[in-house]
Amino acid sequence: VAPLNVGIAGLGTVGADVVRLIETQGRALAERSGRGIRVVAVTARSKAKKRGLDLRGIAWAKSPQALAEDPNIDCFVELMGGAGDPALSAIETALKAGKSVVTANKALIAKHGLRLAAAAEKHGGALNFEAAVGAAIPVIKTLREGLAGTSINRVYGILNGTCNYILTRMEQEGLSFEECLKDAQRLGYAEANPSFDVDGHDTAQKLAILASLAFGTKVAESAVYVEGISSITPEDLKAAAELGYRVKLLGVAVRTAKGIEQRVHPTMVPKSSSIAQVMGVTNAVAIDGEGIPPITLVGPGAGGGATASAVVADIADVARGIRAKPFGRPVERLRDTTKAPMERH
Ligand code: HSE
Repeated sequence: VAPLNVGIAGLGTVGADVVRLIETQGRALAERSGRGIRVVAVTARSKAKKRGLDLRGIAWAKSPQALAEDPNIDCFVELMGGAGDPALSAIETALKAGKSVVTANKALIAKHGLRLAAAAEKHGGALNFEAAVGAAIPVIKTLREGLAGTSINRVYGILNGTCNYILTRMEQEGLSFEECLKDAQRLGYAEANPSFDVDGHDTAQKLAILASLAFGTKVAESAVYVEGISSITPEDLKAAAELGYRVKLLGVAVRTAKGIEQRVHPTMVPKSSSIAQVMGVTNAVAIDGEGIPPITLVGPGAGGGATASAVVADIADVARGIRAKPFGRPVERLRDTTKAPMERH
């Protein structure tokens, strides 16, 4: 079988780690996928930047669009970020050409996921975004395939590494919000615009994706009630601790008599609960399914290596020939819940 030819748009922390992983894991990946996987072309904003990568033998495309159009590419990997162009039109071009697409871009999937999923379904390629939620934690596959036979009542968790890192350090070291945020940025956890993290939008986007997979809703951030952590002080955390609680930024999607409720806000959780034990940049997703005990997935939620691991797993699925429905059901079957954004109660 001919190897799967991969093109990567974006060689930041994640993109560079994907190139390295494919190189070091090449043989194991080929064994597990039944087909070789090779990076044949890349593109990034700066060609000259030092990345510590050996790109000899790999073509340099002049733009993401040119890479998406390259007939040599079977699988287009988008790691540029940004909820619109150039990522959006490059992905659409690749899908319309029947190629498969792998992306870590939750903002884009939350905003345009339905349109892209429809294009993937129509033209026969895959649209895989495991890395968009919980980085290395295989939560998309868990909801889409692993729990396909289970009726889900609730999905909730800590979905933003930056916020959990900030809350952890504020509580443990009494540091200010600003100081902790600076460290999260320095460590490469935060978004380019960190207000997406601390105001809860990153969590809301990830929650909307998880809710779609769990409940068959249309992905829409506007269906999520959102409140962030920027007004929380070390004193608030101390007061909560004295009462036996910790404060976590939770995303919660739950089936109620009135419909699917989706919300993001700082939440007091008892210190003895398992979600309260999740510290630092770690993410956790808890899933309550009908007739089974709760399932909790815990792991690194941000960072180059953790995100690259999920991207490479998605590429391996493409190599195996898996073409899952991106949201687990045909796009036309997903239900609109944006008409009734839920109030907090
Ligand atoms: N800024 C995000 C976070 C990166 O802190 O969780 C991973 O999506």
